[in-house]
Amino acid sequence: MISGVIDVVVAGHICLDMIPIIPPRPGGGAHLLLPGTLTEVGRAVLSTGGAVSNTGLALHRLGIPTRLVAKIGDDLFGRAILDLVGSRDPSLASGMIVAPGETSSYTVVVSPPNTDRLFLHCPGANNTFQAADISDDQLRGARLFHFGYPPLMRRMWERDGAELRTIFDRARKRGLTTSLDMVKPDPDSDAGRAPWRALLANVLPFVDIFLPSFEEILFMLDRHRFDSLVSEAGSQSVFSRVDTSLLHDLAAELIDMGVSVVALKLGDSGLYLRTTEDEDKWRRFGACRPGNLHDWRSRELFTPCFRVEVAGTTGAGDCTIAGFLAALLKGMPARASLIRAVAVGAFNVEQPDATSGIPDWSLVEERLQQRWPRLEPLVRTTAGWTWDEDSGVWRSDKDGI
Ligand SMILES: Nc1ncnc2c1ncn2[C@@H]1O[C@H](COP(=O)(O)OP(=O)(O)OP(=O)(O)O)[C@@H](O)[C@H]1O
Ligand SMILES: [Mg+2]
Repeated sequence: MISGVIDVVVAGHICLDMIPIIPPRPGGGAHLLLPGTLTEVGRAVLSTGGAVSNTGLALHRLGIPTRLVAKIGDDLFGRAILDLVGSRDPSLASGMIVAPGETSSYTVVVSPPNTDRLFLHCPGANNTFQAADISDDQLRGARLFHFGYPPLMRRMWERDGAELRTIFDRARKRGLTTSLDMVKPDPDSDAGRAPWRALLANVLPFVDIFLPSFEEILFMLDRHRFDSLVSEAGSQSVFSRVDTSLLHDLAAELIDMGVSVVALKLGDSGLYLRTTEDEDKWRRFGACRPGNLHDWRSRELFTPCFRVEVAGTTGAGDCTIAGFLAALLKGMPARASLIRAVAVGAFNVEQPDATSGIPDWSLVEERLQQRWPRLEPLVRTTAGWTWDEDSGVWRSDKDGI
């Protein structure tokens, strides 16, 4: 039974994360996964992961009534996912799809002290998620539809995203504003070789808000430039090679493909926002259409991260999205929404897991009232950008024109 009054539907990828606590030992993690060995480890932390869990639970923690729609199997791991989600709030799990005979998606996170993490990921039922899995009933009452991580869901990226397009088309026809997040596919997998530009051209006409990370969207739009940027950067962050004119060009292309709002996540360099000037597109924006178009039309802004003690960046991008969408749902202007996005992202990185750092909305507002220093971004602002100390954003000379 699907229950409750909701504002947002968050649909897409979900999995069960299993994280064995590995005690430190000489040689770091080099002994792990060697054939013929047994390694004693500590208890396993179990949590849900993926866009539906991270963005959906973050919105819920911020106080936004949210429904989660993702597909799991009728197996033990599926029951663990339902249990973990339902323990936050029983109504959250009411839109979940349990597919008889299918395998629930899981990830084993092997993260020894002082060694790089490795993941063993089984996509399971995420790979069979299809347009027919989202019913009108699941969308009922919501103003916003957000979908996350199609690159980890085979039916969503196959055939140039035909199924994904159908899903967004359906949400649009029901009057919801639509929003999309990506993830970078494994470059050597089928998904990594998929024609991403063709998928974007096919799907983005049905998406109002697009919030990929810089790296995943450059990978999808210009693989050659992505590869050379990564190799030029070497051991440095790619953001040391990025300036706002590159972000401007990428966002222009995405707006030309159909979206109205583009937010590019820039790791610890912050968040870039550009919106369309096209009033026709704003008229089609759905239930979250801003009351005052002037606040949102034709914006180009960039804001650095808030400075915090970093415990871990798991789910930082997903929580940043939750902050942005929550502000939009509350009717805030573009500039204020951008700041709320990085504020919620900063709350995320203060805790090692994906969502436990996210507080109620009132605490986000309270912290913003205090002096909260910023991180110096590596991304360079080009000529025509000016810093606005009062609001804490960089403005392009094209902002508002
Ligand atoms: N060191 C940091 N301090 C504060 N905020 C941070 C930091 N690192 C990341 N963030 C927040 O996270 C966002 C960056 O997300 P990122 O570009 O890593 O997205 P992503 O790759 O989609 O992340 P995810 O792995 O969660 O999907 C920033 O916009 C900011 O809000
Ligand atoms: Mg992400």
